[in-house]
Amino acid sequence: MSSSAMPGDSFHVEGGARLVGEVQVSGAKNSALKLMAATLLAEGKSTILNVPDIADVAIMSELLERLGCTVVYEPTSFTLTIDVPQVPGVRADYDLVRKMRASINVLGPLVTRLGHAEVALPGGDAIGSRGLDYHIKGLKELGAEAHSEHGYVIATAPDGLTGASITLDFPSVGATENLMTAAVLAKGVTTIDNAAREPDVVDLGQLLLAMGADIEGLGSPTITITGVAKLHPATHSTLCDRIVAGTWAFAAAITQGDITIHGARAEHMEIPLDKLVAAGAVVTTTSDGVRVRMDRRPSAVDVATLPYPGFPTDLQPLIILMNAVAEGNSIVTENVFEGRFMFVNELTRLGAQIQVDGHHASITGIPHLSGAPVVATDIRAGAGLVLAGLVSEGSTIVEDGYHIDRGYPGFAEALVGLGAVVKRV
Ligand code: UD1
Repeated sequence: MSSSAMPGDSFHVEGGARLVGEVQVSGAKNSALKLMAATLLAEGKSTILNVPDIADVAIMSELLERLGCTVVYEPTSFTLTIDVPQVPGVRADYDLVRKMRASINVLGPLVTRLGHAEVALPGGDAIGSRGLDYHIKGLKELGAEAHSEHGYVIATAPDGLTGASITLDFPSVGATENLMTAAVLAKGVTTIDNAAREPDVVDLGQLLLAMGADIEGLGSPTITITGVAKLHPATHSTLCDRIVAGTWAFAAAITQGDITIHGARAEHMEIPLDKLVAAGAVVTTTSDGVRVRMDRRPSAVDVATLPYPGFPTDLQPLIILMNAVAEGNSIVTENVFEGRFMFVNELTRLGAQIQVDGHHASITGIPHLSGAPVVATDIRAGAGLVLAGLVSEGSTIVEDGYHIDRGYPGFAEALVGLGAVVKRV
């Protein structure tokens, strides 16, 4: 797997490319990692199909192996099997959790199945404060004792969990997932109100249903879970990655190109595609995806990020980049992660004209950026900076390219296939 990528890896990008051609979108990182964690709920061998060959999958595999699972990945068929022992370990160590926040998704399955879990407090992307308070509060409402100690969350429920009515203050993806995976083995009925509606949450729920869980309301703001005594292993195929698909859609608009994105599901990208149309792109659905064509300089569009079905925060760097090279002025408002404008600092090094005030970014579009060395601060910002290099005069070096490997399998190769001059160094 791509886990061999090291900090220090960089992408060298030549400006002036117009991306034209076809790409295939892999399974969603944010689904696959949660599906993997959920297999801990049942002893035996579960199979997950369409698992992307990315560094984060390798990290989650190692985490599960340390808990006693046997994990085998077949990169040619994108198939992952996880054989879960009767009694897995209960401790997720800091050295892995700090690399990837999705590690906390083992908390719910471990505490509900084994009555005890110790999970290091995560690091993950440097995109603002990302609390665990909803996760902890919800587990307590399900009857667990939970506290943090020496950098670990320690949750115990020796007699198992009991169903409860939980209302989230914000529709957190991670908290909805952790509480849903905890509630499936709790005694009685749990409702999660103000639940996240992201397709990733629905995908996880569908694996749980295949494992024998009783869940209603997936994809709505209220999820109702009736606990069952035991779950069994299952086979499930990972949903296609709407954020990777969205990245390619914006890449077409940003470079005034024409990309057919196989595997993209337009119904999961309605607002991003509407924004592209407002910017002047021609968006068509194809038999197995979406085609985005842009024949002129994009027009600036305002946007505010929101939980699904709103505009995803993960595509915010991409729309900021499009606006930075668009005709006109725009305002991009970040409502999900407070610190996610770090990308803007790097983009201004390439000459972009952006002022940040609180959670608003005011952008004045200019025709071209100007190549320079920049640093990827997270997965999506990294992809955004590589694309920024394509619309910059001269060469751009994006340092810390390992962030990009965490979310985009074969990113450089795909760009070369679309006509860009990009090298991994
Ligand atoms: C997931 C995605 C991430 C995406 C985000 C929002 C994965 C691995 N990551 O992250 O790519 O950007 O959803 O779509 O799936 N919060 C709290 N307390 C909590 C939990 C969350 O205050 O206990 C806050 C966070 O700081 C943030 C907001 O709620 O401001 C949303 O976070 P959340 O939806 O939980 O994001 P993640 O699940 O971490």
